[in-house]
Amino acid sequence: MHKILVLHGPNLNLLGTREPGIYGQVTLNDINNRLQALAAERRAELRILQSNHEGALIDALHNAVGWASGVLINPGGFTHTSVALRDAISAVALPAVECHLSNVYARESFRHHSYIAPVCLGTLAGFGWRSYLLGLSGLLDHLDARLGG
Ligand code: DQA
Repeated sequence: MHKILVLHGPNLNLLGTREPGIYGQVTLNDINNRLQALAAERRAELRILQSNHEGALIDALHNAVGWASGVLINPGGFTHTSVALRDAISAVALPAVECHLSNVYARESFRHHSYIAPVCLGTLAGFGWRSYLLGLSGLLDHLDARLGG
């Protein structure tokens, strides 16, 4: 059974009311429920954490070693600022997928650069809450393929 750490970065706890024109009206709880439903279908186990604190996200990555087989992360604004979060993903050497609700490349230029993307298998952006499901599905497919599936 694949075990996946799902990390939501800063301000994603406000989904549903936060800039709904950009992020939609779906809440973080709705997204987590949809992720859990997909995980159940795929017989995967999820541990989910949202934090507004860079260090808490880094600690969660460190603590995932020995338990998780992969990471799905929406780093929020830390995408564009955090060398430390990138280093943590690199250090734990778990396959990771980055996802974003919005198409960051169609927004302000400061969102066009991700410190996280180069240490990830791939990035999903612009599909709203579906970016998470597409990301989880891609990550599980990758892990299956590694097992010869
Ligand atoms: C985001 C995009 C980031 O640029 C932004 O800072 C967020 C959300 C997204 O999911 O679209 O907080 O990661």
